[in-house]
Amino acid sequence: PSGTLDVRVRDLALADSGRHQIRLAEHEMPGLMALRAELAESQPLSGARIAGSLHMTVQTAVLIETLTALGAQVRWASCNIFSTQDEAAAAVAVGRPEDGGTAEAPRGVPVFAWKGESLAEYWACTDEILTWIDPATGEDVGPTLILDDGGDATMLVHEGVAAERRGAVESDPQPGERGYSAERIVFLETLRRSLAADPGRFTRIAAGLRGVSEETTTGVHRLAQLAERGELLFPAVNVNDSVTKSKFDNRYGIRHSLPDGLNRATDVLIGGKTAFVVGYGDVGKGAAEALRGQGARVIVSEIDPICALQAAMDGFQVARLEEVVDRVDFVITTTGNVGVVTVDHIRAMKDKAVLGNIGHFDNEIDVAGLEAVPGVVRTEIKPQVHEWTLPAEDEEIGPDGVVRPARPERSVIVLSEGRLLNLGNATGHPSFVMSASFTNQVLAQLDLHAGAEYLRLQVADAEQDQERAHDGELASSGEVRQEGAQEGTGFDVHRLPKALDEKVARLHLEALGVDLTELTKEQAEYLGVDVAGPYKPEHYRY
Ligand code: NAI
Repeated sequence: PSGTLDVRVRDLALADSGRHQIRLAEHEMPGLMALRAELAESQPLSGARIAGSLHMTVQTAVLIETLTALGAQVRWASCNIFSTQDEAAAAVAVGRPEDGGTAEAPRGVPVFAWKGESLAEYWACTDEILTWIDPATGEDVGPTLILDDGGDATMLVHEGVAAERRGAVESDPQPGERGYSAERIVFLETLRRSLAADPGRFTRIAAGLRGVSEETTTGVHRLAQLAERGELLFPAVNVNDSVTKSKFDNRYGIRHSLPDGLNRATDVLIGGKTAFVVGYGDVGKGAAEALRGQGARVIVSEIDPICALQAAMDGFQVARLEEVVDRVDFVITTTGNVGVVTVDHIRAMKDKAVLGNIGHFDNEIDVAGLEAVPGVVRTEIKPQVHEWTLPAEDEEIGPDGVVRPARPERSVIVLSEGRLLNLGNATGHPSFVMSASFTNQVLAQLDLHAGAEYLRLQVADAEQDQERAHDGELASSGEVRQEGAQEGTGFDVHRLPKALDEKVARLHLEALGVDLTELTKEQAEYLGVDVAGPYKPEHYRY
């Protein structure tokens, strides 16, 4: 804690450096700055208390200060133990120059994030953003909104409520459900402490929440599972599946930040090498394109025949990892799935191969299994870069009858301990692409803040809503139901209307010098769309 502002960051003295970077980032984030210009005066987020759990980077600083410019109160934690940029965290805490804060007396936003948190600290920080003490009454009033990336804050509230209903925290960790058990055990300890201190806290928090907006594919999967089981406790907006998010951030963002992470971590030449990308969804497509762009020969694996066919048609070899793993120099996981790189894969890798994950959680690569290999030695090359030396092995016939050849001593370089390497080893996606993502986030928060009641209703006339949205009525506009969501049980997961998606894209065209062609009235009638959009049906895939 520092002065009167509740804050836990590495060093508030880093604020000046963070502020310079934020200032440059603002220039590259036209969508967020346009929302500030459009809405700061009307303060549409006034009364909102936003608990944010999203990588505390320079770009996120611009998001946070857009939310506060629109009237919100905000508390922030990172959604990953390695992804915080300490100077950005410090600058947000100290506050904007016009707030007059200093490192000694910060006046910005309460931030609880630093690079290199322990798991216990991580969950304590996530817990902090849900604590809102009203200075007048001393009462904990809780947040009204969550802005989540990966769903950890949402999970904490849901599991907290479940524990309060049971009167106890479940005692058996469930490896594989969310990650490996060490992490789960730390999480359950956090829950247990909260339950002991105040057994009604999470129930009160959930009751006060108008909703959550979720940033990423993995978090959306978790929300969809909660909605499917009828257990979602508040409305949710799926920001990830706005076209201007997943088709840009997940793809073009990765295309930039994957090589950035590899270079800063290892500085190993990518050109001429063989790289393996596990998964060819949006992130996998960006990863494969980036590696090919660096001159690597890229091999892809997929479990989905459509994505496998796409990879083949894009000119990539499609193979199973186990068939080629002894020949590849880089293995990058992009699936958001569990256990896609096993210890057997790692044992078969080439000497000094680089292994990294860019999917949301650290359960894609079995790092826990690697730790358990007899005789394995872990050497820290630098923070977030570890060499794992595997002892020489004699030929062995496994219980499955498969012969494992004799292998000499060799080592594998594992990045960010299997956590997302673009944020652990570099600084994540660049500002411009995050501007599109975060403009969707602000729109989603506006929608939830102003129209939670409305979100419970099925939209009868989406088109009319889209027209209204296009006319500048941002809040409470129509939303699109997640396919497969159940009726009548709990809350659902929604997307923002296409008119807003198009608006987000429009806000980014000018900065790139794009001249958009306008439909003539005749052409619009011919296509059956409005001159002002939306231009595509909901099922269009871009
Ligand atoms: P996606 O669903 O479009 O793609 C994932 C792909 O992996 C799918 O095509 C799926 O069929 C494939 N897959 C699943 N299991 C597999 C297996 N065992 N072997 C091979 N392929 C497999 O999801 P998206 O949007 O590409 O996101 C992937 C992950 O990246 C998610 O965890 C997401 O949250 C995360 N993400 C990370 C970002 C970062 O900055 N590091 C940015 C955006 C998303």
